[in-house]
Amino acid sequence: MINFYKTVKNQFKALQNRIKATLHSKQQYNDALVIYKNPHLFSEVDRAWAFWVSTNQAFSSNIGAGWSYGRKKNQAPKTTYHKRERFENHYAKRLELVSLDCRDALEVIQKRDAKESFFYVDPPYFNADQGHYKGYTEADFQRLLDILVNIQGKFLLSSYPSELLDSYQQQYEWEQRSLHTTIRLKQHHKPKTEVLTANYPLEV
Ligand SMILES: C[S@@+](CC[C@H](N)C(=O)[O-])C[C@H]1O[C@@H](n2cnc3c(N)ncnc32)[C@H](O)[C@@H]1O
Repeated sequence: MINFYKTVKNQFKALQNRIKATLHSKQQYNDALVIYKNPHLFSEVDRAWAFWVSTNQAFSSNIGAGWSYGRKKNQAPKTTYHKRERFENHYAKRLELVSLDCRDALEVIQKRDAKESFFYVDPPYFNADQGHYKGYTEADFQRLLDILVNIQGKFLLSSYPSELLDSYQQQYEWEQRSLHTTIRLKQHHKPKTEVLTANYPLEV
């Protein structure tokens, strides 16, 4: 992410040209993963390009998951097309007032907590295929919930439903909204339910 930002700021044209000349392509996706996994061998532009391709062309935007493509419709190349066309300087602008921290999220939440704080919390889903986030357990999720119970600020948490979350939601009277979507598998679409949980009134 840091290299991506630096490259967007300092070598925007080179990165943009490279992205604009990238197809929705399994070969290019595979090349991007090689760069992503061996960053020390490549230039900053190569690595920024690989970051963009490996997030934007991966199944479920999950770096290292398979290359995303459709069975019936050409949705995946269309999505790549729109992302490519939208690759403009706003990426750099969006990141200008952001701080990127790199330590335990639970510590960050506690250190940044205040009455006015808002935390969008998007941990790996312990009860799902985690792809490259593999290793996040139910106990990790419970530690996160225990921190969220005590914060002064607001949080919005995304997850799949679970008994563990239900028990906290009931005990602390958190608000919830369920979003019903589908996940594309090889032969069919599997229904899935995402849950948004918050410690403040949700208006949608
Ligand atoms: C589902 S991803 C978040 C994706 C992000 N919202 C996005 O749109 O790109 C979950 C992230 O939480 C990180 N994570 C999980 N537990 C953490 C912890 N205790 N401290 C720091 N990061 C953690 C994982 O490494 C992973 O990058």
